[in-house]
Amino acid sequence: MSSVVRKAMLGAWVLLGGTLACTGVANAENRGQLSYADDVRPILQIRCMECHSGNGAGVTASGLNLETYEGLMKGTRFGPIVIPGNAMVSNLNVLVEGRAGIRMPHDRKRLTSCETSILHDWVNQGARNN
Ligand code: HEC
Repeated sequence: MSSVVRKAMLGAWVLLGGTLACTGVANAENRGQLSYADDVRPILQIRCMECHSGNGAGVTASGLNLETYEGLMKGTRFGPIVIPGNAMVSNLNVLVEGRAGIRMPHDRKRLTSCETSILHDWVNQGARNN
């Protein structure tokens, strides 16, 4: 097999892998129950907690502390950012999906479509502490 063909096949494989891991994704029924502990919290930890934990800028400015499930569900000092079962109106999803004037993470690289779809589907599946 030529190396060009092999590279092309590898490319297709990587693409397919990404698709399997993440597109089924836009559609909750396709990929089973997502988990707060295994799927959601790692994203918040890597992408949000720099500012939304402890005395971080995001906590000071909005009151939103993402260290725990309880903190996520409590939301900002103005109210919840997660409406279980409804990602369309949940501010968590509105902000990371770029559907509002401000975007999160603040001043940082935006989430990948894989990451936003995990948060989206988890909220639509009821935002459970699972
Ligand atoms: C570099 C710091 C930083 C990071 C990283 C960050 N935020 Fe924020 N966040 C802020 C600040 C500061 C505010 C206060 C609002 C403002 O001034 O824009 C805020 C406010 C918010 C709000 C409330 C917005 C409102 O309408 O009141 C939400 C929800 C939010 N962040 C979610 C997230 C999520 C989810 C992530 C990770 C995907 C994230 N943030 C990452 C700094 C950050």
